[in-house]
Amino acid sequence: MDHFSYRDGLLYCESVPLDEIASLFGTPCYVYSRAAIVQRWNAFERSFSSHEHLLCYAVKANSNLAILNILARLGSGFDIVSVGELERVLVAGGDPQKVVFSGVGKRIDEMRRALEVGIFCFNVESLAELERLDKVAGGMGCRAPVALRVNPDVDAGTHPYIATGLKESKFGISLDEAEGIYLRHTQFPHICFLGLDCHIGSQLTTLAPLTDALDRMLTLYDRLQANGLSLTHLDMGGGLGIRYQHEDPPTPDGYAAAFLQALGDRPLRLIIEPGRAIVGESGVLLTQVEYLKVTPNKSFAVVDAAMNDLIRPALYDAWHNVEPVVSRTDLPATSYDIVGPVCESGDFLASGRDLALIAGDLLAVFAAGAYGFSMSSNYNTRPRAAEILVDKTAIHCVRKRETVADLYAGEVILPYN
Ligand code: LLP
Repeated sequence: MDHFSYRDGLLYCESVPLDEIASLFGTPCYVYSRAAIVQRWNAFERSFSSHEHLLCYAVKANSNLAILNILARLGSGFDIVSVGELERVLVAGGDPQKVVFSGVGKRIDEMRRALEVGIFCFNVESLAELERLDKVAGGMGCRAPVALRVNPDVDAGTHPYIATGLKESKFGISLDEAEGIYLRHTQFPHICFLGLDCHIGSQLTTLAPLTDALDRMLTLYDRLQANGLSLTHLDMGGGLGIRYQHEDPPTPDGYAAAFLQALGDRPLRLIIEPGRAIVGESGVLLTQVEYLKVTPNKSFAVVDAAMNDLIRPALYDAWHNVEPVVSRTDLPATSYDIVGPVCESGDFLASGRDLALIAGDLLAVFAAGAYGFSMSSNYNTRPRAAEILVDKTAIHCVRKRETVADLYAGEVILPYN
């Protein structure tokens, strides 16, 4: 079911027309569909149901407490990359026993807090990090549960900024080095080696890089097993892509089938860390046209959302579908670049879109639920947008719009003397 759809020319999220949300909460704002999030999470859960598994939603994709809470209520685990994300998960009712902690730069205080609340596993990305964690756990009189994040050296075939599985990347430990560390496990008295981890990149639209990585990980698992080290889980990270334009990514069923087939009868609990595939298509960014600016070379629709609200087009040249909230039949379409008010030429949401518009019209930027709000900033002293969650006919403001005063609340000026 499509959770954003037109009825009589007006765009709805579930049973709520988006123009109503704009008039209640203003623009720009993010609008999420609860049903879409639940449907996608359930699709993953069903696809893996024949094998012992844990879904750890990647919090960085969208860390709004209401969304984390919806997922926690479904029984989801969480993949975190900072103590900030950990605190969000706890406040949202997430179970620390279902938390995996990824990231190349974990600080001592972050390790301590994660040990204190009893997370399920640290995904350790370097020998230096492992040595630090061993010491921190020793100091607290406990053992830290660990999977080494292995860099399997496969090309994920995605944008270079979001590919993480090549040997040139800062992420993970090479297969050889990881094998050596696992085999020296007795040298780390405060580490309990539980599993293997990898994450090769994001917005993957084919299975081949994932199954390549999986084969390499399973070869390593088999070698360790043969050397007497029994690991109990395999975390294959996140990365399943979504449809922004013409992509045709695997379904959760196809994705799970490829994994489960390769696993065979190995007694390994499978962990995956989907982010984008759960929330990406569950949200839109709602924005209003401030001006139409027609020049001899180009026509611009200047809108009230900008690169600070949704940075993906500026950062990755990402394509997001942009559609009017009310479709107009009274005007011919013109090709517009959709741009924001920020003082950078890179501040665009879309280019060359054929739209019939007048100033004041509302636009929806689709597939903005992942890495939209979570990557937003206050550049140009722009308060971050409101976030609205629709649940059938109910409209919940799950994060109010920031005020300008919020933005400088922590700042001080020097005394006059
Ligand atoms: N696990 C780890 C260790 C990760 O680094 C990531 C994403 C995920 C899971 C979730 O990946 P997903 O299922 O969402 O693809 N800002 C970029 C995406 C960066 C992804 C970073 N890591 C974008 O807007 O496309």
